[in-house]
Amino acid sequence: MNDSNKQANIDGVAGNCEAEGSPKITRRNLLKLAGTSAATLAGGSLSMHSVSGEVLAPGAASVPASKVTMHVNGMQHELLLDTRTTLLDAVREHLHLTGTKKGCDHGQCGACTVIVDGRRINSCLTLAVMHQGSQVTTIEGLGTPAKLHPMQAAFVKHDGFQCGYCTPGQICSAVAVLDEIKAGVPSHVSIDLLASPRATNLEMRERMSGNICRCGAYSNIAEAMTEVAGGQA
Ligand code: FES
Ligand code: FES
Repeated sequence: MNDSNKQANIDGVAGNCEAEGSPKITRRNLLKLAGTSAATLAGGSLSMHSVSGEVLAPGAASVPASKVTMHVNGMQHELLLDTRTTLLDAVREHLHLTGTKKGCDHGQCGACTVIVDGRRINSCLTLAVMHQGSQVTTIEGLGTPAKLHPMQAAFVKHDGFQCGYCTPGQICSAVAVLDEIKAGVPSHVSIDLLASPRATNLEMRERMSGNICRCGAYSNIAEAMTEVAGGQA
């Protein structure tokens, strides 16, 4: 189709909705109109953010931000965050607690596991603004080099890691898994959903299945967990 035919078609379609006395819509006018509408819409959403009382991040007038107060490893933190910030990025980039690792950033590896209000979660899959007032525990909050958490000590004793990249997530998960079992929460492999689950090798492996270890330290991790659980694999 040549240019004059294209223009004729556009003029023809535009002609169907042309109001009497309005200027003729040409391809050029149509493109200008579309550009103006997009700019108007963008401006509208910006002013909505400001009018609704949301705080705009410093130096970034177009980025909506919110104040978030969280208790991380027993300390209260007040953060002004872009509302799209994940809990993982809040912890690593804003609080500089880099023990929690970013593996896939898609909820598939478990490297980012932290404990929020007693439950293990993938911190890459949740927004920080959803955890206003939450108690967050990262690997830094479980123990210190001088006084390891029993699970950290068991990982060292049973050689539950090689490169160590998955280890903070594995340990946070392992701690919360044993708490889950103690609390009687069933898993996919629990045969009787009403009976109290036991910390068997099968239960622990199933519950830890979201924590991937590229070095394959799984059996050593299970041994460490078994020791902490005080049971037999
Ligand atoms: Fe969150 Fe992989 S980084 S699951
Ligand atoms: Fe290397 Fe688990 S110890 S990925």
